[in-house]
Amino acid sequence: MSAAELETTAKAMVAKGKGILAIDESTPTIKKRFDTIDFESTEQNRRAYRDLLITNPGGNRFISGMILYDETIRQATSDGTPFTKSLIDHGIMPGIKVDTGAKDFALHTNEKITEGLDGLRDRLAEYKSLGAKFAKWRAVITIGGNTPTQACVEANVHALARYAGLCQEAGIVPMVEPEVLMDADNTIERCYEVTEMTLLALFSALKKQDINVEHTILKTNMVISGKQCSKQANIQEVADQTVRCLVKNVPAKLPGIVFLSGGQSPKLATAHLNAMNASNPELPWPLSFSYGRALQEPCLSAWAGKESNIEEAQKALLHRSKCNSHACTGTYNADMESAT
Ligand code: G3H
Repeated sequence: MSAAELETTAKAMVAKGKGILAIDESTPTIKKRFDTIDFESTEQNRRAYRDLLITNPGGNRFISGMILYDETIRQATSDGTPFTKSLIDHGIMPGIKVDTGAKDFALHTNEKITEGLDGLRDRLAEYKSLGAKFAKWRAVITIGGNTPTQACVEANVHALARYAGLCQEAGIVPMVEPEVLMDADNTIERCYEVTEMTLLALFSALKKQDINVEHTILKTNMVISGKQCSKQANIQEVADQTVRCLVKNVPAKLPGIVFLSGGQSPKLATAHLNAMNASNPELPWPLSFSYGRALQEPCLSAWAGKESNIEEAQKALLHRSKCNSHACTGTYNADMESAT
């Protein structure tokens, strides 16, 4: 892929009113999701679920790309069409999660380092041949009494930069994702500090390793109160603090920024994104979504593992996709939820 193609892919990922659907749960994570509907996590059951997400009629109006998992990128729809072909035929770009997970960071209690660099050049070449246009690597940053340490942040952003370089060499757009977790009791102010520290380190590491940020998408957390914090910031505060942090710490020439949902409820994740775009129509980059749970939860519940529920489940996914599409342009409002 030429530089022009990388640029085209990156821009298409965050095209106006479109975002990414993350369906890249690892096998242990999708099992946890299936446990919530009391459904067994076999390869065929996972295939059936991803099939309904991928073939959702009309999804391409709101979704630019889907992030797949290694197992999923090799699977096919019930009529035998490879998932990647089905996506491409519907104008949706296949992406692929390429890290191999967050593992305990040596000598650093409660901190994680994401692994997956060994053999990555060869894996990327294979994923490219299977149709992947972009990739994802997620680093996990934990807020605690003594965390994150500078050592953990530095180790993770160094790996993110090495991954990004290998992606660009392979002609795949890297989505770099440093996720500051929200499962703690920290204030929104502490989340701001840690997100800022992480983004500063990330863009410094990308620069040191000559990564072209014009061909890179940032996937980040919102600046938000920890789930267990007694004082929860409201929607506008989350929007304002998130945008302030991004404007200060993200280069203007990045093609786009997408958010993870991180455990927010589906409606709240939409409302936060909408408030950011409604209050800031002149940002240097599009702000969009790359949600997993916040797009899938209502769909998964509606499906409940039953073939007879597929249509309802797909409608639920389409509804959330449409609401988030509106949030990308600041035109979502809560009435849209009751309209269906
Ligand atoms: O890396 C994180 C996932 O792609 C997004 O998942 O929206 O459920 O946090 P989430």
